[in-house]
Amino acid sequence: MPNQPERIVVEPHQSLPHTAASWIADSIADAIRHTGTCSIALSGGRTPRGVFAELATAFRDVPWRHVHVYFGDERAVPPNDPNSNYRMAREALLDPVHVPPDHVHRMEGERADLDAAARDYERLLPVALDILLLGIGPDGHTASLFPGAPALDEHTRRVLPADSPFPPPRRLTVTPPVIAAARRVAVIAEGADKAGIVRRALEGPLDPHALPVQLALGGVWLLDRDAASGLARVPA
Ligand code: 6PG
Repeated sequence: MPNQPERIVVEPHQSLPHTAASWIADSIADAIRHTGTCSIALSGGRTPRGVFAELATAFRDVPWRHVHVYFGDERAVPPNDPNSNYRMAREALLDPVHVPPDHVHRMEGERADLDAAARDYERLLPVALDILLLGIGPDGHTASLFPGAPALDEHTRRVLPADSPFPPPRRLTVTPPVIAAARRVAVIAEGADKAGIVRRALEGPLDPHALPVQLALGGVWLLDRDAASGLARVPA
């Protein structure tokens, strides 16, 4: 039985960065309409950079003064390291749109005691994020929840240190309860290299221990045509 996420959005006439940036801008506006503020956790890796750049340039009316920015995961590196998810977000989005510095809540991956860093971050992470952005790795990981990881069975801690099979080897990550509690979740993926893992996640057996990104099947999956090309049914 295919796993049916809330919806798959494949935009053949728009770029994925624009489609994803539009969804994020709309989601921020909706959260602010309801509560006057918005908490969004950003995803890391390479894919988001283009999305964040589009968000910064094509959606300049986003009221960032009402937005608090968090992160779904971070590498255990300093914040100015080329591998830092914070650095990528700062360069592509946070600096260009002038998010107030006290509204940016980065994970302190540089700390020697990652468990203490995780516990400190958990204390400032909202009980329920308004928006959680996620990516999908070649092995089906999301955030820094990797296949078979102990964190996949975590029901209490909301942030944990993690080991990664991909460099950098140590991470901080949100855990399944954070994904479950988030009001809006989006998985953003582009490129033919993601087609196989997207197909496994959306149309294969349900097994989040093997495919942690399946924890986000209740969310919106924002895919370009290439990443969706392995699916049996691609929306027109
Ligand atoms: C990270 C991300 C990770 C990422 C996927 C996809 O810190 O690397 O949080 O989960 O979203 O690995 O990465 P790409 O967008 O680079 O393919």
